[in-house]
Amino acid sequence: MGKVIVLDHPLIKHKLTFVRDKNTGPKEFRELVKEISTLMAYEVTRDLTLEEIEIETPLAKTKSQIISGKKLGLVPILRAGLGMVEGMLDLLPAAKVGHVGLYRDPETFKPVEYYCKLPQDIEERELIVLDPMLATGGSAMAAIQFLKEKGANAIKLVCLIAAPEGIEAVHNKYPDVDIYVTSIDEGLNEHAYIVPGFGDAGDRLFGTK
Ligand code: PRP
Ligand code: URA
Repeated sequence: MGKVIVLDHPLIKHKLTFVRDKNTGPKEFRELVKEISTLMAYEVTRDLTLEEIEIETPLAKTKSQIISGKKLGLVPILRAGLGMVEGMLDLLPAAKVGHVGLYRDPETFKPVEYYCKLPQDIEERELIVLDPMLATGGSAMAAIQFLKEKGANAIKLVCLIAAPEGIEAVHNKYPDVDIYVTSIDEGLNEHAYIVPGFGDAGDRLFGTK
């Protein structure tokens, strides 16, 4: 079964409080989501492999480690996943970025796909799927399915917050996908919104409501 890793560093918790606050406007909201994403990148990449190389400091020759091999791909789910890309790229500048466009039908809550552009070599990359919200799990599962059909072999799902329902759904269908979140919230309301959550992530990022 896949793991759920809750990143509950005090800095993340502090910033998440202001993300949740309904009085936080789009500018500050975007900055906070970006900053939290950078902090998450640190933990999400903890299992990267290292190799030893020889270097010279001003004083001596020594062996030291660098990240080896594994190529990364960031895959934001449009729109709201875009808010997490820049923060991740700050720490992972060599990662390639693919985009999957999905929106959730407001009546059925089912994801509808409208765009996809991925790096050509996704089968060689460890893919990090980005979406601030994991609610029913429909959007994340559609994106994961899509990536697997295109040849993806290694996928992590990174969300700011999740409902237990979404985590269960993703893990039942994709036990090989580890999920990184900063909070597991109480659950979903009758509109399939995460409670307490932070509302509509896309609208709050881009000021569309
Ligand atoms: C939001 C969010 C996720 C999805 C989560 O996107 O960013 O993609 O809902 O819900 P789910 O787990 O029940 O699928 P939305 O459909 O509102 O689209 P947007 O990002 O374009 O606003
Ligand atoms: N999508 C959002 O933007 N927010 C939620 O709480 C659930 C789905």
